[in-house]
Amino acid sequence: MKNIDSYTHTRGESIYLDDIPLIRGTLFAACFDSPIAHGKLLSIDTSEAETSEGVVKVLTHKDITGANQIGGIIPDEPLLADHQVHFCGMPIALVLADTDEAARKAVKKIKVQIDPLPVITDPREAAAQNELIIPPRTFKIGDSAGAFAKCDHVFEGKCDTNGQEHLYIETQGAYALPQENGVIKIYSSTQGPTAVQRAVSKVTGLPMHMLEIDVTRLGGGFGGKEDQANTWAALCALATHITRRPVKYSLSRMEDMRMTGKRHPYSSDFKIGLNKDLKIIAFETTTYQNAGAAADLSPAVMERTLFHCTNTYFIPNVTATAYSCRTHLPPNTAFRGFGGPQGMFIIESAIAKAADELGIDAWTIQHKNLLHSGDELPYGQKVESEAHECWNRADELYNLKSIQDKVQDFNAANTLYKKGLAIMPICFGISFTNTLMNQARALVHVYTDGSVVVSTGAVEMGQGINTKMLQVAAHVFSIDPSRVKVNSTNTYRIANTSPSAASATADLNGKATLNACAAILVRLKEVAAAELNVAEGDITLQDEFVYVNGVKTDWNWNKLVLTAHNKRVSISEHGHYATPEIHFDKTKEKGHPFAYHVYGTSITEVTVDCIRGTYEIDAVKLVHDFGHSMNALIDRGQIEGGLVQGIGWMTMEEIVYDKEGKLRSNALSTYKVPDIYAAPKEIDIDFLKTEKSSLAIFRSKAVGEPPLMYGIGAFFALRNAIKHFNADVKPAFDAPMTPEKVLMNLYGQLIKTETPVMTAV
Ligand code: MTE
Ligand code: HPA
Ligand code: MOS
Repeated sequence: MKNIDSYTHTRGESIYLDDIPLIRGTLFAACFDSPIAHGKLLSIDTSEAETSEGVVKVLTHKDITGANQIGGIIPDEPLLADHQVHFCGMPIALVLADTDEAARKAVKKIKVQIDPLPVITDPREAAAQNELIIPPRTFKIGDSAGAFAKCDHVFEGKCDTNGQEHLYIETQGAYALPQENGVIKIYSSTQGPTAVQRAVSKVTGLPMHMLEIDVTRLGGGFGGKEDQANTWAALCALATHITRRPVKYSLSRMEDMRMTGKRHPYSSDFKIGLNKDLKIIAFETTTYQNAGAAADLSPAVMERTLFHCTNTYFIPNVTATAYSCRTHLPPNTAFRGFGGPQGMFIIESAIAKAADELGIDAWTIQHKNLLHSGDELPYGQKVESEAHECWNRADELYNLKSIQDKVQDFNAANTLYKKGLAIMPICFGISFTNTLMNQARALVHVYTDGSVVVSTGAVEMGQGINTKMLQVAAHVFSIDPSRVKVNSTNTYRIANTSPSAASATADLNGKATLNACAAILVRLKEVAAAELNVAEGDITLQDEFVYVNGVKTDWNWNKLVLTAHNKRVSISEHGHYATPEIHFDKTKEKGHPFAYHVYGTSITEVTVDCIRGTYEIDAVKLVHDFGHSMNALIDRGQIEGGLVQGIGWMTMEEIVYDKEGKLRSNALSTYKVPDIYAAPKEIDIDFLKTEKSSLAIFRSKAVGEPPLMYGIGAFFALRNAIKHFNADVKPAFDAPMTPEKVLMNLYGQLIKTETPVMTAV
């Protein structure tokens, strides 16, 4: 089944925030944001802006009717700066004007006095000054310190990953409309309608039932709108609350890049110990997360870094400690993988380091240490592993030996071009790591004409969730998909939603939809049984007809639902689902946090131009653990998109803040994202059908985030290509591997240490 949005998408008819028809009297908002990363805010002069043409009002923190607070996990983030500014791009004042242009023109007339304070942009420096968002956390299994003493090989090193701009095609924005009796309806480009509702409630002082949040779809979220959509919705709603007029704010690309947080950069130390059989016996890491100026989701992201810092390997002795460090950058936030990719980069760097030192290929170590079913991860969960199945299938299908030979032959025959190869096996935990968030609800109405409408807490952001929800209802009722419509996500229909995130949206909302449909189905069967004078157990619904003991009757779907209604039987239901079996004890850092894990193995081949430092990704061939994919087209799209996004993070996307905390890569002219030429020339995806995941919707495993981590293979493939050109160089584990870094590394005999060869320009 194809994506139900494909028709309107390709015709340009799909509705996004900016397509909502404007109501007369709408005011346009624009932010004045801090030009300085850290300082005392001495004064805000809005007088000139207020008299600027078209301006109706200028709001500052003094106008906030509720609390000046939007922190989700920790209340440490003001909506509008009051006595201090904490990052360049921090909102200070909000101009409301009759047009977009007038609002943005007036913003330039606002003047502030800021007394600068010292700026920290480096997480290690922040940690040294004890600028921590939360106390450090440590995951521990076995006794790593003792185990190192027994290892045949012990290696230490350092690795760094940079941030990543979400670059959703639709920028952040909101549109707030006054309703009667003080109610405010807010259209928001958010992954978390309830998160928006809570933030708006706090900021305005209005109870949650006065706030209706509605989301049709997003032009991408990628984690960037899990909670950072709250700011713009809160600003618009506050303005509507004060002026009783509709207020819209849709950020320009540069505003969005400057004012919002990104993927967390991490800097890590590692130590790895192996025995003579290349089994990893011990692993230690200390990692410093660059959280930015406020907590945002950083504590949860940091936790997932710890969960994934041994990736898909069994290591009996692990000590992993993470620090969430407060710096003067925009608060960093969720981004596809949610800290997991950063954790995996650490162990992959450690393995590559060991391979370098031992003079062997990394995959020899990787393969020897893959998880087996029953192995325990450092956080106590025993896995049902598909790691070997994925690896072996990849080896068999793509013939690893032949790829190795091809690369070797090419490298022997060429001096100015070198090929590199890397394998990236992955293991990603599915569930919000915060157990209570693993719940969802769905509202299903069957109308008397046989059509069905489904509302859930799931937000469509391009990942195809609405299609999957529609499939669930059509399947349970055994009706044609064209009978089902999926409604917008609305807090009046579905309350207290978890954000659409953690790749768990289809599982959680799908199972809630399943429960709702199943409850209606039970009642429909009761009606049919009574009408046909048979036992309920004899009834089935197949292809829109009632069957008795497998024999088709003349009772069709329409007749059945109409009869049920006429007999005053409800053909509506509100379904609830909470993931069973999961738990986690933070005091012990042990438990069973994930419903299941998703596995996969990718093989990445690259070619480096050794004169220019430029490169191409020749191919990524992968085997992915889909369970039983419920929609192969959508799931393939998720793999392709995630893979290319991961390659972008690892190779070319380079966020640069200067020492003053100003974003230098602040537009698409200075921040390079993958285009069609940067995508692998060949992408092969093998659908591995696996059986172990009963907690996935229809056994169709979550697919949203895991493929991003295949992109990590590109970094190590490039690193290997460089080593084929210059055997003496040990390129630093410092992602992204931009062409500039490749070039410096190729001629790296001049560079003696493992410190990053490039500093921010
Ligand atoms: N795919 C598209 N097209 N657009 C997106 O914004 N977000 C990703 C992933 N795939 C995203 C996407 C992220 S970060 C997550 S967590 C999941 O989709 C969320 O959706 P799911 O839970 O339905 O997989
Ligand atoms: N993943 C994604 N988003 C989240 C999580 C998580 O584990 N926890 C809270 N938000
Ligand atoms: Mo995805 S980072 O969990 O929104």
